[in-house]
Amino acid sequence: MMSIASLIVLIVAIHSVHSAHLLVSTHPMGLSHVKLTFDVAEDMQKTGRHIVTEVRWPVMKVIADYPARKGFRSLLLNKTYEHASKLDFLPAMIDDSGWKKDDGMVDMLKIIKGIWRLINLPCEEALEDEKVARNLTSEGYNLGILDPFGGLCGTVMMRSGKIPFVVLSPPVEPFTFGLVAGFPVPFSYVMSVVVAKPDHEMNFIDRMANILGHSFFHIFLWLQIYLPSKQFADKSDAAELFKGLGNTMVFTNSHRFLEWPIPTSLARIDIGRRDTLGEDNIPKDILDFIKDKHSLGTIIFSMSTFTSSGKMPEEVMLMFAAAFAKFPEYRFIWRINDLPSQLKAKNIHPVKWIPQTELLNHKKTVLLITHGGQNSVLEAVNAGVPMIGIPMTGDQHPNIERVRTRNLGLRLTKSELTEENITKK
Ligand SMILES: *[C@@H]1O[C@H](CO)[C@@H](O)[C@H](O)[C@H]1NC(C)=O
Ligand SMILES: *[C@@H]1O[C@H](CO)[C@@H](O)[C@H](O)[C@H]1NC(C)=O
Ligand SMILES: *[C@@H]1O[C@H](CO)[C@@H](O)[C@H](O)[C@H]1NC(C)=O
Repeated sequence: MMSIASLIVLIVAIHSVHSAHLLVSTHPMGLSHVKLTFDVAEDMQKTGRHIVTEVRWPVMKVIADYPARKGFRSLLLNKTYEHASKLDFLPAMIDDSGWKKDDGMVDMLKIIKGIWRLINLPCEEALEDEKVARNLTSEGYNLGILDPFGGLCGTVMMRSGKIPFVVLSPPVEPFTFGLVAGFPVPFSYVMSVVVAKPDHEMNFIDRMANILGHSFFHIFLWLQIYLPSKQFADKSDAAELFKGLGNTMVFTNSHRFLEWPIPTSLARIDIGRRDTLGEDNIPKDILDFIKDKHSLGTIIFSMSTFTSSGKMPEEVMLMFAAAFAKFPEYRFIWRINDLPSQLKAKNIHPVKWIPQTELLNHKKTVLLITHGGQNSVLEAVNAGVPMIGIPMTGDQHPNIERVRTRNLGLRLTKSELTEENITKK
């Protein structure tokens, strides 16, 4: 990955006398998206003394609070933040799609309705706020790194500043690849997030649902392009700014061998293989716990930010604690904000934060129990650690399907969650 980053920055740098100015635009809601975008920008920054400016659309508090990277400058989209801080329904909606039920199309529709305005707000700010607009055009950015997921406003920003950009796709979502790199996505067999099944397992009904799922995103993206461009019709080049992507280089957070067969393009480069780190970053309390010489192995249990932050229902915690009690010879690292004291046990170490990459690469680690976020899946694959995936929402379903069909782990759905089933898996 470093070599790709070096190459791009080199190409950019030889066109400018000074070090390159990079503009990084992140996804407004996904913490893992922000992390990956920053990681890539940091890798690029390290290849020279480049200036990195991040644009954050902090629709949620966790995004606003996510620590800035050393040396990054930030361009705040204040209007978006002010608006988002008044919308307390959004975190609630996302939390709701947590443990209680299997989410489906209806939940997605609800979320889309709620975030519609927020998705388009940054476009307004980029076009109407003079300070932002001036910054985009006069700062002389050489390259944009853009995560377009969930909204096209990042492209509007890049285009209004006439900044050349590459796309970063944190989830493995063929529809996005097709859109940004301009290659075909046959609806009949390329999985949509709605169906989340490999081609060889889809029956006729699945294929029909898959076609509907893709069509839905097509319409959604078309509306995102069409409606705002009408709203800004007084600006002469608004239609150009809001045009869809195509023929853009796209970096995907993936491994070639994880993907099911789909049409692809040379404009797509998989960067899912990230560096692994040593024991140094593992806090002493965790290291002492897992190094216990009586331990047969370490099992890491970590769900997403939302589901780990005190939102796990007590009955679910009870199931896991009871299942873990049946394996006294293993050590469980449980990432959770607050574990009730009656569930504490000798073989369970609850922690608020874990250095997941380092722990996965620790020699005693034997299993990851995960929600199936793309970063977690890749980290486990890179470390050669099998998984039990409990997908909660969105791309976690197809991610865990890939894990299952590639024999990298097992799946446990929310409706199958019982103490017996957890123990058996
Ligand atoms: C956003 O707000 C901060 C302070 O809250 C201010 O320093 C900054 O200049 C504002 N940015 C823009 C683009 O208005
Ligand atoms: C653009 O914004 C960045 C980050 O706030 C700031 O450091 C830079 O000076 C601004 N440039 C211009 C030309 O306004
Ligand atoms: C375990 O999961 C299976 C599906 O794999 C389900 O049919 C069954 O009801 C679950 N067991 C219990 C005890 O809930």
